[in-house]
Amino acid sequence: MAGLILILSGCEFDGPRSVLNPAGRVAEIQLGLLTYTTWLSVIVLVAVFGALVYAIVKFRRRGNDNSIPNQTHGSVVMEAVWTIIPVIIVIMIAIPTVRAIFETETRYEPTEGDVVVNVMGYQWWWAFEYPELGIVTANELHFPVGSRVVLNVDSADVLHSFWVPRLGGKIDLIPGQDNRMWLEADEPGVYYGHCAELCLGAHAYMRFRVIVDTQEDYDAWVASFQAVQAPELMAADTVVPVQATTEDEQITQGQALFASKGCIGCHNVTGYFAEGQTTGSARFPDLTNYGLRLTLAAGVLPNTQENLEAWLSNPQAIKPGNRMPALWAADAANRDEEIAAVSAYLLSLGVSSPDTASVQGERLAHGGNQ
Ligand code: CUA
Repeated sequence: MAGLILILSGCEFDGPRSVLNPAGRVAEIQLGLLTYTTWLSVIVLVAVFGALVYAIVKFRRRGNDNSIPNQTHGSVVMEAVWTIIPVIIVIMIAIPTVRAIFETETRYEPTEGDVVVNVMGYQWWWAFEYPELGIVTANELHFPVGSRVVLNVDSADVLHSFWVPRLGGKIDLIPGQDNRMWLEADEPGVYYGHCAELCLGAHAYMRFRVIVDTQEDYDAWVASFQAVQAPELMAADTVVPVQATTEDEQITQGQALFASKGCIGCHNVTGYFAEGQTTGSARFPDLTNYGLRLTLAAGVLPNTQENLEAWLSNPQAIKPGNRMPALWAADAANRDEEIAAVSAYLLSLGVSSPDTASVQGERLAHGGNQ
């Protein structure tokens, strides 16, 4: 019991990763099922152990009574009772379970107002593509409160599992198999997501965030991405976030280093080159509008200048097993200064405040003079 208390003290019942603290319809359906089957199991437990205790007490050997009790082998009544009762219990569990499965993760067809997102799992991060909006991003999934997000999930390598404990899940990501589920959220907020399938290496650090925005915030987020990734899809009356030309020397230096250190070989920043040209590869996280992210390294750390510098200095120290190389040797000249500059550049992407204005959109506007 003492050991159990110690272990259970690690549980969080109302925390950001607790299924007992649902914040959306899918999670509520799943918790309802969990509660129902738990109580049913408790009833079975009490009935079985009650009968056991009753039998032990009532039919125990008394004194010197060595007679053989009545033998019940072959009793049709008893055989029928302990066959029919379990069948009824299985039916009582099966009906709500099957209903919940069909409600939450079947071939649900998106309808007007739903947000469709193609989720691709990679070792050890998440790509989120909004096919109807022309948006590609990584590790942070946005959708507006009051809408249903429909997730088409797939994997680029091994099995992963998409799980947002407070909103719902899990759904497996299986290479080549189009699994689907949907989520809704009751309130705007930031919800923690995890990979829930052991996928080697940095599995424990394969996290993500689901950011449920108010409609207004979501529209602004979409506009800031469409401005660089899909201007042709923007509604005519959309207010495009201004990304003024930067005068900041550190950011300009960081941008040059982003190319010369080879970052663009793996990571895409749309708008970096001329229209139609892209950088990087789909196999690595897209960094377009990176400054708008809340976290880095797939949900591992808050996305701050200090953390980003630590990450670029030694990615393996923060997320063991990941595929990001350390681009600066420990004794490289100007190491700290260059890492600070690249961090400042990345954090400026998508941020429209004049102080940290981004050069990301400006490249596109000028037709790209890389
Ligand atoms: Cu992906 Cu564990």
